[in-house]
Amino acid sequence: MKQETLISNPKMGASRLNSFPDEFFVNPYPFYRELHSNGPVQRGTLIKHDGWVVTGYKEALHILKHPHFKTRMPIPKDSKDNKRLIRIQKNMMLFKNPPDHTRIRSLVSKAFTPHAIEAVRTSIEETAHQLLVRVQDAGEMEVKSDFAFPLAMATIARILGVSPQDYPQFRKRADLLIRTTDLTRTEKTLDGEAAASELLDYFRSLVKYRLHYPEDDLISKLVGEADDGDKLDEDELLATCILLIIAGHETTVNLIGNGVVSLLKNPDQLIKLKEEPSLIRSAVEECLRFESPTQLTARFAAEDTEVGGTTIKSGEQIYLLLGAANRDPMRFTDPDIFDITREPNPHLAFGTGNHFCLGSALARLEAQIAINTLLQQLPNLRLENDRLQWRRLFGFRSLEELPISFG
Ligand code: HEM
Repeated sequence: MKQETLISNPKMGASRLNSFPDEFFVNPYPFYRELHSNGPVQRGTLIKHDGWVVTGYKEALHILKHPHFKTRMPIPKDSKDNKRLIRIQKNMMLFKNPPDHTRIRSLVSKAFTPHAIEAVRTSIEETAHQLLVRVQDAGEMEVKSDFAFPLAMATIARILGVSPQDYPQFRKRADLLIRTTDLTRTEKTLDGEAAASELLDYFRSLVKYRLHYPEDDLISKLVGEADDGDKLDEDELLATCILLIIAGHETTVNLIGNGVVSLLKNPDQLIKLKEEPSLIRSAVEECLRFESPTQLTARFAAEDTEVGGTTIKSGEQIYLLLGAANRDPMRFTDPDIFDITREPNPHLAFGTGNHFCLGSALARLEAQIAINTLLQQLPNLRLENDRLQWRRLFGFRSLEELPISFG
């Protein structure tokens, strides 16, 4: 297996962990711990990317909330191979700064109010129940494909106004886009450009259709907004659809998958939750902290700014390891213990500050319903094998698949 350097840091020298990338993807937490022992903010090269690597909770929180630190696109804007992907990135709120960010976010956030989320509760419950009825006689299932993906996709698709027959194509395309934007990307993982192009074509024609035949969905609402200057332009609208369909299922699928694994690997916690289903809210918060679906986010400094005694200079890049911050022993007691009653649990799995996850309430509701329905409907859940395969991604914590059996 080809070995790559995950992080090189003059102070760390030839750290043992630099040369075990395969182990890193299986279990990144010992690596994070070692990094953290060199300081919460340190200069380094993270898989060929120079910048400041942040593993401390307090420092990550400070940077995410500080106006001097700006969001930025994962693919550099001068990259020649990813023209369409760059155009999409440029128009996504995730990679925009104020004032454009504020304008786009306030238009889109109308679809994610507590009232709007509560309105989809019954359909999530019904879908979760039906998906499990389909597999319950088989005695086994693959949690991501048979349950988490169809559930999360149906939910975000219904909000956006995407038809059920189109769901399968989004999984493959989300996967390609994620591989192309992850820090682990190489020239060989540039197929995201084709996926970007197909997604643009798909949403361009759906937007056109909804302009003439509006329904009660988010795309129809965004297309029909009053022309008072606050409207999204066509590029922003297409980028928003692509962001929502991908962010709206990928990380939620991983929250459900990672959460089920954490529970199955900690049977005392599984029993506790089965006996007291009302613990599901704090259980999902602990799943978010313990195996955070989003492990990394990036920023750059717009002005020289001090963080934890270190000056980050204007223009420098910052890599915030959310998965490490969520296991920072300075903030969380026994951070490597999975405790579904942990209180307080102020994890950073959804980020914080002006880019705080817009879909957090939806993701929480889906995971709470999914996990409790699974535990209540299928008896005696077991992992099919102990050697789970994790995807070789730096920014996301995601299983290749999760086979389980029951009954
Ligand atoms: C467990 C599931 C999820 C996780 C862990 C997650 C994580 C995150 C994180 C960490 C950010 C902030 C990124 C940054 O600051 O750079 C973010 C932003 C965002 N998320 Fe999520 N997300 C999840 C589910 C969802 C869902 C279901 C949706 C949509 C329905 C969604 C839509 C968004 C959007 C639109 C943003 C950008 C917000 C902005 O730039 O203002 N996410 N998410």
